[in-house]
This record gives sequence, C-alpha cells and structure tokens, in this order.
Amino acid sequence: MQIGVPAESRSRKSLVAATPETVKMLVAQGRTVTVESGAGECAHYTDDAYRKAGAQIGDAASAFGAQIVLKVASPNESELSLMKPGSVLAGMLDPFDTENTARLAAAGVIAFALEAAPRTTRAQSLDVLSSQANIAGYKAVLVAAEHYPRFMPMLMTAAGTVKAARMLVLGAGVAGLQAIATAKRLGAVVEASDVRPAVKEQIESLGAKFVDVPFETDEEREAAVGVGGYARPMPPSWLARQAAQVHERAKAADIVISTALIPGRPAPTLLSVETVKHMKPGSVIVDLAAGRGAEFEGRKGGNCPLTETDQVVRKHGVTIIGHTQLASLVAADASSLYARNLLDFLKLIITKEGTLNIDLADDIVAATLQCRDGQVTRPA
Ligand code: NAI
Repeated sequence: MQIGVPAESRSRKSLVAATPETVKMLVAQGRTVTVESGAGECAHYTDDAYRKAGAQIGDAASAFGAQIVLKVASPNESELSLMKPGSVLAGMLDPFDTENTARLAAAGVIAFALEAAPRTTRAQSLDVLSSQANIAGYKAVLVAAEHYPRFMPMLMTAAGTVKAARMLVLGAGVAGLQAIATAKRLGAVVEASDVRPAVKEQIESLGAKFVDVPFETDEEREAAVGVGGYARPMPPSWLARQAAQVHERAKAADIVISTALIPGRPAPTLLSVETVKHMKPGSVIVDLAAGRGAEFEGRKGGNCPLTETDQVVRKHGVTIIGHTQLASLVAADASSLYARNLLDFLKLIITKEGTLNIDLADDIVAATLQCRDGQVTRPA
C-alpha cells in the first residue's frame, strides 16, 4: 500500500498532511510513504526528517500517483490529473462545496472529506474541525493582541494603573472556547455568547461571563438545542434580542472574537455596521467567519458584514481582521495535529494486512465518503 503526501499549493499551503512522526508510524505499519520534496518546508519539517522517518522523497507526480493521497486542501485541476482513478484522496475537501465534490467524482477518485465526520466520541481523534479550530481560536487572540493598541492584562505601574482589556467572544464552540482560555491567560476580562445553552457551563468554567439571552418560546428553545452538536438558525425573535445584547456588549468591548458558524449555511450576522460604528476607537474585531457570512456590498462578509476575507481593514475606527487561515500561522502544530487526525482516519480504511477496506457500516467512513466510482455518494 503506497501513501503519497504532496506539497500543498492552495489556500493552506503552509500546512502538510503528514509529519515525520506520522510517517514513522505508517512505515512501522508496513506502508510505503512518498513525500513530495519540500512538502513540509513551511511547517518546518525537512525532507531529511521525512527521510529519516522512512519516507521516500519524490516529485508531485509520484506523491499524487500513490494509492492513497493525503492532502490538506482539495487538489487543483492539474494536481487532480496526476491522481489515478480508483485511488483514495483524504483531506479537508469542503463537503458543502458541491461543485468541488462533483469535480472529484469526475476524476474517478474515492474522496473522503474529514470535516464531515460525526461529532461523536469515537470520531474525536480524527476531528479535523476541532484540531484546526482550536488553533484558530488561540491564534485569533494573539493576532488581536498584536493589533490592539493597549495592554491585555491589568497593570499597576508607577505611572498609574492600566485597565484589563474587555473581550467579547461570539460563538463558544471549539474556537471560541480556546479563544476564551487564551484571553484569560493573557489577563483579559472575557464574556461570551452562544445559541446553545449547553455551553454556558463551559464558558463559566473558563472564568468568562455568559451573555444570557433567555428563550421566550418553545420554538426558540428547540432551535437552540441544535442538531448533532451543531447550531441551527435561530428564530428572528431570538436573534433580534441577541443583536440588542451584542450591540451593548460590543460597545463596551475592546476586542471581539467572532466564531459563530452554522454548517452548510451562511454564518449569522452578529456585528452589524451600526454596532461597529458604536464600538470604541482602536478596538479590534477578529472575524473567524470571514468569507462565510451573508453578501454585503458584492462580497461575502463574516459575522460582521464589514469583514474582508484575508484582509485587515480599519472601518469606523475599528480594526477588522478577516484572516481565514489562522491555523496556518501555527503551521508546525497545526500540521502535527492534522497529520495525527489523518493517521487515525486511515485505521478505518486500511486493514492490518494493508489492504483498502471501505466499510460503509462504519458511520465515520460513511459520513466522510464524498464520491466513489465517479458518483457523488454523500447525501445532498
Ligand atoms: P461551529 O464552528 O460550527 O460553530 C461555532 C459556534 O457558533 C457554535 O458553538 C455555535 O453554537 C455558535 N453559533 C452559531 N450561531 C450562533 C449565533 N447566532 N450566536 C452565537 N453563537 C452562534 O462549532 P464547533 O466549534 O465545530 O462545535 C460544534 C459542536 O460540536 C459543539 O457542541 C462541540 O462541543 C461539539 N464537538 C464535539 C466533538 C466530539 O464529540 N467529537 C468534537 C468537537 C466539537
């Protein structure tokens, strides 16, 4: 069984899908691993380290020509043309991008999008959304600190006392909770909002305040429970009350980290233009939903319509950061965790004897499989 690890050429180009650590384990399991020369360079894994771990160093054609190809992002057209029909592609393949899935199906590959794995205990070790969102939440706070023109912690100095920064976190999933934890370590005063009532306890256990928007109807209560651990769109009545609360909290905040997402739908608008206009001069928004929100002035915003994808902009005196690849800024650890996710996933599709076994009775395999034999397999 030959496994290929090409260099990334698209959006996540500083990441790599296998590290010397995971290559060593694959080789110990009897696999042959071909790593494209330079694939780990941006994440600080050298060809030599891969070689020492037992990999062969090759070119793009040999990495893409393997029976199983491990990728971070979906391959582009020319990369896809290097893959053999019937070979396996595993990576973060944007399962909601139906055009992309159709393109992979047309190439005849067997594609697994790891983002589609269920949020169950068994799937935790291969949960790429968690491993990457965790890093993004951490880095979002550091990026905010870099752009924030004041200290994060309270400081008592001979020249007077400096107040702690007030941070508002919108969406307390994996990224939001890590943002809270990181901001607390830096000494900020943090509060957070989410639709799912289950997160109140998690927010409070990290030392932050939960911004409560009580439910007033059964419809609101039911929607807030979500589905499969994920949020669902909330009724307009609740969203209006939440918007009023967020407006007040954002006015008082120095930094807002927004992470609210709803799978398969545009990210909710939580920070309106009006809210940004009322925020303090010099305050900072880091919008992790950049490029995934509603259309605004001809382009997609994030949780804030003023967010510009992969740009840092100053609007109404507020710095708005729309980086979409924050995990890439922590490339070594982001790659290392992602590579371990893939290693765990491979255990589900490769037998101990080293043969491919796609068992659709396995809920993780079934959920992540996107296409096979030229057909899109995942439910629309
Ligand atoms: P996500 O990235 O899809 O969304 C981020 C957060 O935004 C979520 O907490 C969501 O409730 C929130 N949100 C959506 N609309 C909002 C609004 N209008 N206002 C405020 N917040 C809003 O979520 P993520 O981080 O992927 O986590 C989803 C769930 O999966 C969580 O319940 C998490 O605990 C669970 N999970 C389970 C795992 C497992 O058991 N394997 C592993 C990781 C996460």
